[in-house]
Amino acid sequence: MDFGGDDVREGLRRVEEACEGLEVGVVINNVGMTYPRAMWFHEVEEKVWRKIVRVNMEGTTSVTKVVLKGMLERRRGAIVNIGSAAAVVVPSHPLFTIYAATKAYVDQLSRSLYVEYGQYGIHVQCQVPLYVATNMASGVASIERASLFVPTAEAYARAAIREIGLKPRCTPYWAHSIQWCLANFIPDPLLDAWRLSIGMRRRNQKEH
Ligand SMILES: NC(=O)c1ccc[n+]([C@@H]2O[C@H](COP(=O)([O-])OP(=O)(O)OC[C@H]3O[C@@H](n4cnc5c(N)ncnc54)[C@H](OP(=O)(O)O)[C@@H]3O)[C@@H](O)[C@H]2O)c1
Repeated sequence: MDFGGDDVREGLRRVEEACEGLEVGVVINNVGMTYPRAMWFHEVEEKVWRKIVRVNMEGTTSVTKVVLKGMLERRRGAIVNIGSAAAVVVPSHPLFTIYAATKAYVDQLSRSLYVEYGQYGIHVQCQVPLYVATNMASGVASIERASLFVPTAEAYARAAIREIGLKPRCTPYWAHSIQWCLANFIPDPLLDAWRLSIGMRRRNQKEH
């Protein structure tokens, strides 16, 4: 279904219908989108930011609601929400501000649901990827291929599956964990300045 449409209710109804009679055990809320390029907050067109909010926040929330009922009856299930380092590992993500803010929502939604439903046998987890070599990374960070710190989607997914049902929040890929650990030693103002310089550089690159 298109989570970015004006009315997602029809799509959700079809998802609900598709789930009827199925014992949905694991749900991965992977859907996500960001700006077409690095932009100052005031430059982001209304239709663009509203779509990001709908896809990243409403999509994850509504699918979770659809599948949770059955999991609750069975007292069993796992929900994995894909967050982002943009909202968790670095203190800010300038020039991708609305994207990062929606991912902070995903992080908090997941953590609170983890506490609410853990007692009923449902494990809710937020996975926090850093860069993964996908269309999104190519579009916003000009990452065209995998490298030591940027896994392929397949390598990321293999690591991600192994973490399901363990901690409430994790970064499954080993090289991402090293980067997260290093980021903890860097003062926030330095990380802010670094992210701002990267955002501005990307914006200028895309303009030329
Ligand atoms: N790549 C990274 O470096 C990175 C880093 C941190 C977090 N993430 C997160 O990882 C998740 C996956 O992103 P990705 O990197 O794989 O990006 P991607 O290649 O752009 O894939 C995005 C996914 O979301 C789906 N999607 C986007 N808009 C949709 C809409 N309106 N309706 C329904 N589905 C829609 C896409 O479906 P279609 O294939 O059908 O278009 C695709 O499966 C996202 O939540 C993203 O925020 C990615």
